Amino acid sequence: MRFKEKVAVVTGGGQGIGKAVARGLASEGASVVISDINMTAANKTVEGIKKSYQAKTFAVETDVKKKEAIHNLVALAEKEFGRIDILFNSAGICKRIDIEDISEEEWDDMIDINLRGVFLCSQAVMPIMKRQSEGRILNMASLAGKVGGIAVGAHYSASKAGVICLTKSFARALGPYGITVNALAPGPVETAMIDDWPAEVRADMAKQSPLGRIAKTEDVAEPALFLLSDGAKHITGEILDINGGILMD
Ligand SMILES: NC(=O)c1ccc[n+]([C@@H]2O[C@H](COP(=O)([O-])OP(=O)(O)OC[C@H]3O[C@@H](n4cnc5c(N)ncnc54)[C@H](O)[C@@H]3O)[C@@H](O)[C@H]2O)c1
Repeated sequence: MRFKEKVAVVTGGGQGIGKAVARGLASEGASVVISDINMTAANKTVEGIKKSYQAKTFAVETDVKKKEAIHNLVALAEKEFGRIDILFNSAGICKRIDIEDISEEEWDDMIDINLRGVFLCSQAVMPIMKRQSEGRILNMASLAGKVGGIAVGAHYSASKAGVICLTKSFARALGPYGITVNALAPGPVETAMIDDWPAEVRADMAKQSPLGRIAKTEDVAEPALFLLSDGAKHITGEILDINGGILMD
């Protein structure tokens, strides 16, 4: 029970990687606030956690594009549980699109959700974690943020490159307060996000990995739980590759 008495906020907790990490945290004793723009999905995650584990949990509708909504989320989490030990920034969007077809609106949306959202959520929990002199922030970057968009849009890869540097800046600023800030950089993971990928693109990505497969959510959740645990207290500013060896750097 690595997360007994810990309080976690998971953005994008309604489905995919956020849901898998939220369930993992709850299974090991954490109280978990599930934040998502999609309340149907968020409520399902909450119901599933309540059914499977003893954990305390509730859902909060949050659009990470909106600062007021984020501050409401953090206030509700603190009011209910008195502290916030863990922030897992998983909310995000992705699009397969050619560079010449990316509109200004799509660019703004991508950056606002994937990058500005991570910034605002992290900034919002900072005062609480500083007061506690401990905390864990874990962000979802991507392989695309390191090598450019292989199968996804340039705006997506740019947003994730931003998350990588934001993670390092937060890690430097918050280290003196006992707060670690890390990111995960997965290659493709079987979630709704890659549902629209053509079979040949999936096959090609799998072929690029020496392991010859595409990740499942548990392949990301397990390393995430480690980085959020006390066992990772000396790891900060790390961008952890989870790509089956597609990129070895
Ligand atoms: N699936 C992959 O291949 C993959 C690879 C690398 C990184 N990632 C990153 O992992 C994270 C989770 O992705 P996933 O694969 O679980 O995708 P997903 O689509 O299954 O889940 C994303 C969640 O974010 C929520 N969301 C979207 N916009 C939001 C907003 N404005 N405010 C709040 N919530 C919002 C969605 O409702 C959804 O529940 C994302 O940041 C994604 O970029 C995914």
